[in-house]
Amino acid sequence: MSEKKRGPIIAVDGPGGVGKSTVSRLLALRLGLTYVDTGAMYRALALGAADSGVDPADDTAVKEYCSGAALSYDFKTHDTLVNGVSYAARLREQKTGELASVFSAKQPVRALLTAFQRALGSRGSIVMEGRDIGTVVFPDADAKVFLDASHEVRAKRRHKEVTPGAPHTAEEVSKELKTRDERDSGRRTAPLKMAEDAVHIDTGAMTAEEVVDRIVEVLKDKGISIKP
Ligand code: DC
Repeated sequence: MSEKKRGPIIAVDGPGGVGKSTVSRLLALRLGLTYVDTGAMYRALALGAADSGVDPADDTAVKEYCSGAALSYDFKTHDTLVNGVSYAARLREQKTGELASVFSAKQPVRALLTAFQRALGSRGSIVMEGRDIGTVVFPDADAKVFLDASHEVRAKRRHKEVTPGAPHTAEEVSKELKTRDERDSGRRTAPLKMAEDAVHIDTGAMTAEEVVDRIVEVLKDKGISIKP
């Protein structure tokens, strides 16, 4: 039997480097909601699969790996464990982002993580961020926002975010982001695209706090009352 929904489901989607994680975390903190980073789940699962020797081009191996993968989520640390293993230390490496993008185009990976995200979020009181939350995971979300910014702005933000000390120039980050955007938007299953009923926010000239303010306004306009 499904549990009763306690509070709103807020979907935050958008391309890489736009600041979804920072904004979603701040929003959840301000409103006393739970924050779930679905990109981190795709990253952890991709690392688990790669460490097990799974070739993303081998559909049978990907399917087999997914059918045997046990997932759990730590609501305090926001860490996703794959078969009991934490991949937190390697999650933000540049090559992990690339690997996650490749594995995330695979149907068994999407099916597994979509079901997992629905199970985590269906009770509500949640801010869930990703690429397909408003379109696929929770098409009936109470509020949907799509964060956007130019490629230049996002590449700068992403460059700051990759593991400190990693030998990646701004140009390399920019190039990788472009490849990833094209793959995430062009894939057949659950491509990155804005839900028709999402509110588009161009974050290019805004601070994270300003974006949070704007989302709170969106919630108020929708009559969603949240006790902070
Ligand atoms: O947001 P991020 O950079 O941590 O996401 C890593 C990759 O995971 C991204 O390139 C695409 C994929 N992803 C996805 O396909 N669907 C989501 N809901 C979240 C992430």
